[in-house]
Amino acid sequence: MNEDLCCREDGVFTNNHSQLSDPDCGLETEIIKKLVQKSHEAKARAYCPYSRFRVGAALLSQDGRIFLGCNIENACYTMGICAERTAIQTAVCEGSKKFVAIAIASDKEEEFITPCGACRQVMREFGPEWRIILSKPSGSYVIKSLHQLLPMSFGPENLTTE
Ligand code: THU
Repeated sequence: MNEDLCCREDGVFTNNHSQLSDPDCGLETEIIKKLVQKSHEAKARAYCPYSRFRVGAALLSQDGRIFLGCNIENACYTMGICAERTAIQTAVCEGSKKFVAIAIASDKEEEFITPCGACRQVMREFGPEWRIILSKPSGSYVIKSLHQLLPMSFGPENLTTE
């Protein structure tokens, strides 16, 4: 939980004492770094005895709460769940459905971890334009919009026939 975070009237997320890092995404560097750090902390909780591929996620909601997720595998392999979806399910269960960004972490030093297709679709349920922060263990990151990762997507609006 981050009580020091708030959403300004213009929709920019701030903790009132750092500079905007990227005007396009409206997220401040300090907040991005915090999410990346938290995603790596969440990674430590991964339960992945089969793949041994640890993944963590830190999901920022519009009310300033941060929800963590890790991948949780199962002896019945197909029952495993990704870190991103664990975080989203936790957030929804705790009453948050408006999301600003999600940071994702793995142990891969050379690559930015990128969400699987199933997770992209689950993210899409909660809006087409929020931010996905792909990170490395060094703390470096790149920010993509969900639209960039899932163009021409199918969402709740597409179910209406009028
Ligand atoms: N995994 C995630 O948790 N998130 C991703 O974005 C990619 C893959 C997990 C699922 C599985 O437990 C392990 O990584 C190997 O695929």
